[in-house]
Amino acid sequence: MENILSLKNIKKSYGEIAALKGISLDIERGSFLGILGPNGAGKTTLMNIIIGLIAPDEGEILLENSPVIHRSNDVIQKFGYVPQEIALYEELSAIKNLEIFGGLYGLRGKALQSRISEVLEMVGLYERKKDAVKTFSGGMKRRFNIACSILHSPEIILCDEPTVGIDPQSRNAIFDMLQQMHKEEGKTIIYTTHYMEEAERLCDKLEIIDNGKIIAEGTLTELINLLDKKQSIKILKESRAISVKKELSSLGILNELEFHFELIPGTEYSKLHQLFPKLESLGISEDNIEISRATLEDVFLNLTGRRLRD
Ligand SMILES: Nc1ncnc2c1ncn2[C@@H]1O[C@H](COP(=O)(O)OP(=O)(O)OP(=O)(O)O)[C@@H](O)[C@H]1O
Ligand SMILES: [Mg+2]
Repeated sequence: MENILSLKNIKKSYGEIAALKGISLDIERGSFLGILGPNGAGKTTLMNIIIGLIAPDEGEILLENSPVIHRSNDVIQKFGYVPQEIALYEELSAIKNLEIFGGLYGLRGKALQSRISEVLEMVGLYERKKDAVKTFSGGMKRRFNIACSILHSPEIILCDEPTVGIDPQSRNAIFDMLQQMHKEEGKTIIYTTHYMEEAERLCDKLEIIDNGKIIAEGTLTELINLLDKKQSIKILKESRAISVKKELSSLGILNELEFHFELIPGTEYSKLHQLFPKLESLGISEDNIEISRATLEDVFLNLTGRRLRD
């Protein structure tokens, strides 16, 4: 696949604070890229630089293999930005807000009106089109914020933590909407988050950033494969399990916790269908076993020694 965007060694400092310390990455056309990192990692700074709201101190951005010229009309039409801070005219109706956004992108007349209806349907706010934005709930504002940024049908959509602090229903609506634009319309989506579950669910490639640097990248499977411990089996510490502790420890690495044994299966037992008959033959009941798969949280912990969420 061809790269739609390439970042080359992007650096940005705010006075003494080095927010980005040399970010290089390639983004394939039609991909759903996740940028995952804790508070202050540099996600918003990176998005603002990609979109041209702030200039990097060093480095280059290529859009379809040419240096990007941010103020050119072509480039403006290509990008849609859903900023972390909601930017709407609270006193005005949903329609009025969309008309203003549309005007910025040169949309007018019938084309504008029909596109306004389309995006309002898409974000589930068509019925509320005449209401002032200030009467919307937090989740509705987040959905509406997305409607404003995709009105001009941009090819690349950047979303900066679009689901922070909203109800599960609005969150799911946002996921469905982004997935539809990605799968059905072939849009390229760049999505920042510090929720690993979102990144796991949505993104086909992930960049993990910390302190202004990319510390790992790849698909979810590739990232999980960086870990020695890809899954662990929790076994309830009841009398049977205690009596076969020696046998259990021959199946891999066995850690003894307060109420459980944690078993990290050895390579010959890395497939569950190899492990389970073994546990059964030792008299361990299925009811006392719990499997936990490694997550991006474990990847982050392993790379930094810290948790993603503070
Ligand atoms: N306008 C600014 N002036 C000074 N420092 C800034 C400014 N914007 C960001 N920073 C600093 O740059 C670093 C990166 O901030 P940024 O907002 O890019 O992080 P983030 O990953 O988006 O964090 P969050 O998850 O909290 O949104 C932080 O240390 C932040 O304090
Ligand atoms: Mg941010």
